[in-house]
Amino acid sequence: MNNNMNKNNLDIKIQPSLLACNMGKMQEEINSIDNFADGIHFDVMDGQFVPNLSFGAPVLEHLSTQSELGFDVHLMCEQPDILLESFVKAGAKAICVHMESCPNIHRTLQVIKGFNILAGVALNPGTSYETAYEAIKFADYVLIMSVNPGFGGQKFLPEVLEKIKHIRKNFPEKIIQIDGGITTETAPLAIEAGANWLVAGSAIFKAKNREDACKKLRG
Ligand code: DX5
Ligand code: ZN
Repeated sequence: MNNNMNKNNLDIKIQPSLLACNMGKMQEEINSIDNFADGIHFDVMDGQFVPNLSFGAPVLEHLSTQSELGFDVHLMCEQPDILLESFVKAGAKAICVHMESCPNIHRTLQVIKGFNILAGVALNPGTSYETAYEAIKFADYVLIMSVNPGFGGQKFLPEVLEKIKHIRKNFPEKIIQIDGGITTETAPLAIEAGANWLVAGSAIFKAKNREDACKKLRG
């Protein structure tokens, strides 16, 4: 684990997203970042909530026993409630669900917290901070999507920085995770706005030197 505090006195964490790794050799890909990453971001896509499929709990079950890094699970799914327990059993240390797919968001977060892991609420670029205010209050962390979810390697949407600033102002202690299009150019903007967990897929796994890329993102 690395510690790096920013001006908001928040611990900055870099969480590589496995969506951008070579999926034919996931174990080796994890080994390649084990010594310097702060966690691993596990993107679960169901082909319904987003137009793409990725991987599920059986994959996490294998990988989570092979690394000391904690896995945070990002459920981009229409029905996240039916998946929660299997991801907890598979070793998730944090699970976040989308505001847009949870009509009973408070209950869903309660269930996640009941497993004694961190509960997060994710907001798509088109979802306002005001809509999610009550859920954010109750969640351990909020994930701000800085692309429309479904694919890695998309361009960062700078409009979401305002949303992060609002949340940081109202919730000085809250973990704010940002996900999508994080690069050496956009990471400082996200940190400046108040984000402290940075998900990075392409910027880490497509880099020539992954350790160096991770350091640069941390700032
Ligand atoms: C997008 C996923 C992201 C994605 C980020 O739907 O939630 O976690 O892997 O990839 P990059 O960093 O390449 O934009
Ligand atoms: Zn993600």
